[in-house]
Amino acid sequence: MNHFLDIHQTDPAALRGMIDSAISMKTARAGQPKGALDTDQPLKDHMVALIFEKPSTRTRISFDVGVRQMGGQTMVLSGTDMQLGLGETIADTARVLSRYVDLIMIRTFEEATLLEMAEYASVPVINGLTNRTHPCQIMADVMTFEEHAGPIKGRKVVWSGDGNNVFASFAHAAKQFEFDLTFTGPPTLDPEPALDGMYAIERDPHKAVEVADLVVTDTWVSMHDPQSARERRHNQLRGYQVNDALMARANDDALFMHCLPAHRDDEATSAVMDGPHSVIFDEAENRLHAQKAIMRYCLGK
Ligand code: CP
Ligand code: NVA
Repeated sequence: MNHFLDIHQTDPAALRGMIDSAISMKTARAGQPKGALDTDQPLKDHMVALIFEKPSTRTRISFDVGVRQMGGQTMVLSGTDMQLGLGETIADTARVLSRYVDLIMIRTFEEATLLEMAEYASVPVINGLTNRTHPCQIMADVMTFEEHAGPIKGRKVVWSGDGNNVFASFAHAAKQFEFDLTFTGPPTLDPEPALDGMYAIERDPHKAVEVADLVVTDTWVSMHDPQSARERRHNQLRGYQVNDALMARANDDALFMHCLPAHRDDEATSAVMDGPHSVIFDEAENRLHAQKAIMRYCLGK
């Protein structure tokens, strides 16, 4: 049994295997209706719990569809509807759920909740985003990069904006997939120092994106950030917006990614999001394929 908690805690060969498996599953079902079952049914007779303590569009739907395509069944649960919301411990919840389901995916606030779930569950647990990390997203991003631009090893990725949870998983991925990652953003919104990842810092966004193969950004205010910080963050981050002028400094064939949801014309302009460099909707689609591969890895299928 394998949990999928973080990219830096997962063996690089296993990560590579997941990307390859995601690409071959995607290729195998090309042109099929979305609800068609895969030829291979590794999740047949399997029940998967999808727990959300924060809102979600992509993670919720892509996991649900992915499980069904592989022959399994899902239940989508919100933290507040469960006794968790009334104070039942994570440890007890994990032990109880393990008697009913074969796999647990959880999106939560504190990383400690995810880790406690994994410690006490006797079935695999997948990290569907915490305040600290978002590993499923970055597996889809690596897959998307490689589909469009070939092997990511040795390539230059630049993150412009907030040093948040999605950036943290990029930093973990840089180490495991061996690509160069540069963070550009204000010092007040630097990634947390304890991050066990690999990246350089360049404060000038125009310098940072020189020879970049991929430019990435994310919302300036994450779900766990207080709304009261919104104006301050916008003021600090305005100079790090991804716009045509910034993209013009990257390589001519550079890609642009954003995990979505986006606040158009804040962190990135609509011109970039809908422009020739953007692969944001392939990125969203690849959540489905990458997570199917992650679930197979977790279940040893
Ligand atoms: N990118 C992402 O995780 O989107 P959702 O919040 O919609 O799941
Ligand atoms: N950084 C964002 C990502 C959303 C998918 C957040 O945590 O809200």
